Amino acid sequence: MLEIRDLHVQFHTSDHEAVRGIDLKVDDGEIMGLVGESGSGKTVTAMMVAGLLQSDRVKTKGQILLDGEDLLRADGDDLRRRQGKDICVVFQEPMSALNPVMRIGPQVEECLRVHTKLSKAERRELALQAMRDVDLDDVEEVYKKYPHELSGGMLQRVCIAAAIVSRPRLLLADEPTTALDVTIQAQILELLKRLNRERDMSILFISHNLNVVRKLCTRVAVMERGLIVEEGETDQVFHRPQAPYTQRLIAAIPTRRKIDG
Ligand SMILES: Nc1ncnc2c1ncn2[C@@H]1O[C@H](COP(=O)(O)OP(=O)(O)OP(=O)(O)O)[C@@H](O)[C@H]1O
Ligand SMILES: [Mg+2]
Repeated sequence: MLEIRDLHVQFHTSDHEAVRGIDLKVDDGEIMGLVGESGSGKTVTAMMVAGLLQSDRVKTKGQILLDGEDLLRADGDDLRRRQGKDICVVFQEPMSALNPVMRIGPQVEECLRVHTKLSKAERRELALQAMRDVDLDDVEEVYKKYPHELSGGMLQRVCIAAAIVSRPRLLLADEPTTALDVTIQAQILELLKRLNRERDMSILFISHNLNVVRKLCTRVAVMERGLIVEEGETDQVFHRPQAPYTQRLIAAIPTRRKIDG
């Protein structure tokens, strides 16, 4: 469904490319992992796919194909609209992704307000449903609350609810659990797995944490300084890493069990 071909991205304010020609494919219904050290270009790649970096800030080359249509050439409103509806994003910091002075409900509904002609009541119903789907309790109550009234884990669930409310086909999850404690992290990962299975929603999962990627993703790509240096089935990459950089990443995993199956 998503295919990135030879993507280059350079900020106008920078003298070098943040992404230096990458190829990446995400198939229907799969969870693809994207790992790599800080500054390697993971977030820039995700923002490009989501259409959040425009030509006023970056110079680009290459193609980002959604079902064969190039999002980078998408001047037509149609494709832009599909990009917004079919591809949604969850970021690391739920608090900064939400508007602190706006109640939760309308924020979950945002995507529906922009991309559909549904009535207010219909939007509310779908928002409540999405909030139940991410295992929030008392959704009618949460709907009326403000972000500061919820815990970090609940806020990340709210962000995921907002991302899936329009039933996107691809979810970009950029370090969605890094800011959460370990127990909540595990719950959010289970949730993403379930959404992938039940809704047949593809996920591009970005993380520093190779252990997490290993549990969640069927395939993984490894980025280093704007390039993809390795890509393959997760087990393959873990057991027989080819690139020296991947070997170093795996050697650095803080666990005694890193070589068992
Ligand atoms: N707004 C910006 N202006 C200029 N350069 C930027 C901007 N945002 C990112 N970059 C540069 O692009 C490169 C890739 O950054 P990016 O945020 O994609 O890395 P990342 O892999 O997501 O890192 P992290 O793991 O820390 O989130 C970096 O060299 C960064 O300095
Ligand atoms: Mg990042």
